[in-house]
Amino acid sequence: MSVHAYSDSDIQLAADHLLAQVPQTLLPKIGVVCGSGLGGLVESLQDTVEFPYESIPGFPHSTVAGHAGKLVFGLLAGKPAVCMVGRFHFYEGHVLKHTVLPIRVMKLLGVETLIVTNAAGSLNHTKCQIGDIMIIEDHINLPGMTGNNPLVGANLEAFGPRFPPVNDAYPRELRSLAFRASRELGIRQFVKEGVYCFVSGPSYESPAEARFLQSVGGDVVGMSTVPEVLVARHCDLRVLGFSLVTNFVVNRRERTADEESPEFNLPVESEVATPNHEEVLAVGVMRSKDMQNLVQKIVELI
Ligand code: HPA
Repeated sequence: MSVHAYSDSDIQLAADHLLAQVPQTLLPKIGVVCGSGLGGLVESLQDTVEFPYESIPGFPHSTVAGHAGKLVFGLLAGKPAVCMVGRFHFYEGHVLKHTVLPIRVMKLLGVETLIVTNAAGSLNHTKCQIGDIMIIEDHINLPGMTGNNPLVGANLEAFGPRFPPVNDAYPRELRSLAFRASRELGIRQFVKEGVYCFVSGPSYESPAEARFLQSVGGDVVGMSTVPEVLVARHCDLRVLGFSLVTNFVVNRRERTADEESPEFNLPVESEVATPNHEEVLAVGVMRSKDMQNLVQKIVELI
């Protein structure tokens, strides 16, 4: 296996390659990252031009089943947009800084607004049901809080400041627009708003970890998105994020017969099934059309 030693100049290399090939009329103002099972969004694009990731110099390669791995340029609701079908995850072994390279490439191509989507597990079992679409209002970056932030290292001054604020990473005006789009599509009842917890994965959460994430205010948990959002905010892209809720996160373990006795007085936790990647992809398929329509509607309204 050959290992590519990435450097910051790969961002420009990839952008130059794309700028030389993408027709002027398709140079995007909007970027979309399609999460697990949500790649069907590209069916809404017209006049498409596609670039498999491996054909783009400087790009990392995606390895997860269900992630095709291509950049698709086209018109979405008549506006030039670029979709990442398949993204790069930390758990694949990529350095975080490399997982976010496409976002910086989008910036160099002229993107102003980034729509990120993902599949996520529900921590808040009363608010976020399987099949719901959660508008991300804020995030908790657990790997970031313990040293794994994509902005660690020399600051790329050309993109943004050393210490970017993230108090307003998901601006109200775009979240309101998403609610409006959901009303117009008649899917408002499936659309929620909440906090996304980023964990590195690839293992799903232990019950104790699930209770920890619930207690710190997480509504859903997933293994992506936040690094992309941080880099997008660093270079001043406007961000709107959606989580498609694909499973409930298990927050209880099987109790022993002794623990069932009243003296243990254990809290009541939800009884939910073990998450698995097939279930995540299946829910993606079930709701992908709604997600597709929602993103398209929002782009129409932007
Ligand atoms: N945990 C973490 N990531 C996920 C989950 C989950 O339960 N579901 C989909 N992505």
